[in-house]
Amino acid sequence: MERVSMQSIVESVDDLPSLPQVAVKVMKLTEDPDSTAQQINNVLNEDQSMTARVLRLANSAYYGFPRRISTVTDAIIYLGFKTIRGIVMAASVSDILSQEMEGYALAPGELWRHSQCAAMTARFIAKTVKFNSLDLAYTAALLHDIGKVILNSHLKKGYQAVVARVMVGDIPFSEAENEILGYNHALVGARVAEKWNLPPELVEAIAMHHSPEKAQINKKLTAIVHMADALCLSMGIGIGLDGMMYPLSAEAMDLLELDEDSLETMVAQLSDMFVDQQSF
Ligand SMILES: [Fe+2]
Ligand SMILES: [Fe+2]
Repeated sequence: MERVSMQSIVESVDDLPSLPQVAVKVMKLTEDPDSTAQQINNVLNEDQSMTARVLRLANSAYYGFPRRISTVTDAIIYLGFKTIRGIVMAASVSDILSQEMEGYALAPGELWRHSQCAAMTARFIAKTVKFNSLDLAYTAALLHDIGKVILNSHLKKGYQAVVARVMVGDIPFSEAENEILGYNHALVGARVAEKWNLPPELVEAIAMHHSPEKAQINKKLTAIVHMADALCLSMGIGIGLDGMMYPLSAEAMDLLELDEDSLETMVAQLSDMFVDQQSF
């Protein structure tokens, strides 16, 4: 079987498209409280397909606006800078995450749906547990599995071996990756986030989403991403092979003061929200 080192995988992270310029500019503008909706609107207008995707996401059932948001300026006014920031990030990575995941045993578009589910769920959990940044939780969860895109495209055969390993033994997918490759999609995803100059707590949440008890910088954020991933898998959104065995971290649950009952309630609320799967 081919053996591809973590080093060469890390190098291949450079082949990954960088964040679109428009997204980089919007990130900067939304960090500055003196920016205006007009400025953000002007930047987004440079990229019509981005504008269309942003509006589609802003109108998804998830944000629950009673009337149609038809301009970027309205979206900014109704949803606020921070939410727009997350939406622009989602619009920017949708192509990357929608690539066909042949080697990974995920149907086309499934990773994108899973990532969207995780992002929205993370935001919902963050709200429920009164975490201080809903936006950060959304973005971290959106990107949590981005490493799969890289591994999938560079290790077609290697990934088949991982898939086969998961099938025969009761081990989680990321454990099978560790065993066969010596690293996993979470670590590779963290390298992508570093390449994009995302904040360290976000890099950590991606790196540790399958082992949230190891987080140091922002334990709560990592725990939220872990729980959001688990809830989406339990709802069957983007299930693939990752959903076959997903050890839920008791520490993450304790940290967020969640229990079985509160999880059940959340799943019920989320399922209502996700009835309209078109929004993914
Ligand atoms: Fe994962
Ligand atoms: Fe996941």
